[in-house]
Amino acid sequence: MTIHKKNIHPVFDRILERKDKELLMKQHAKVIWLTGLSGSGKTTLAMGIERELQSLGFLTKLLDGDNVRTGISNNLGFSPEERKENIRRIAEVSKLFLNCGIITINCFISPTINIRKQALDIIGKEDFLEIYVNAPVEVCEQRDVKGLYQKAKRGEIKNFTGVSAPFESPLDPFLEIQTYRLSVEESVQKVMKKILPIIEYKFDNYY
Ligand code: ADX
Repeated sequence: MTIHKKNIHPVFDRILERKDKELLMKQHAKVIWLTGLSGSGKTTLAMGIERELQSLGFLTKLLDGDNVRTGISNNLGFSPEERKENIRRIAEVSKLFLNCGIITINCFISPTINIRKQALDIIGKEDFLEIYVNAPVEVCEQRDVKGLYQKAKRGEIKNFTGVSAPFESPLDPFLEIQTYRLSVEESVQKVMKKILPIIEYKFDNYY
């Protein structure tokens, strides 16, 4: 059988792929998706994970609701449709980071099973690590770091998750962190233990 030259595609001719980026950074990319109520500790936990990963030489990107909503989602509110669109955008952005080999840590309430399923479908099952940051609403209300629960209870904020809008707990998360029982450090270590074996680079995969 003759091989026609036009059917040969030299490797130096192609766009660099995720695996090339992963080889460069010696890491396997994943999207670590933290879901939970406002005040449950998602961002605190994410910051701890990010610092720990950075100190071990991993390249990460942290995305969180309060920041994203001042930028790419600044035209969205908190109705079910707008939250769905918010999470769709985040999932698409996460996929860009993922394909660049970067470990992305997302902190979004992402309140319903459907909304998180949408993110999983966009990102892909293999790469979506769902972590349930669990603290009962009473605990979050008591912490009330941003004073939003008080406002919501006074009716000054509509559709507030846990008060006047629903939160559906994940049914089968990759990991659950009960922030009302564990310290921040313990929570970070619990996550690290589960994710390190997944993101550590394995040369055998490609050679
Ligand atoms: S999500 O439901 O679309 O995933 P997201 O995580 O982006 O929400 O934003 C949540 C943050 O927005 C909260 O931490 C809080 O500071 C703020 N916020 C303002 N209004 C609301 C509301 N009605 N419900 C929940 N969070 C709100």
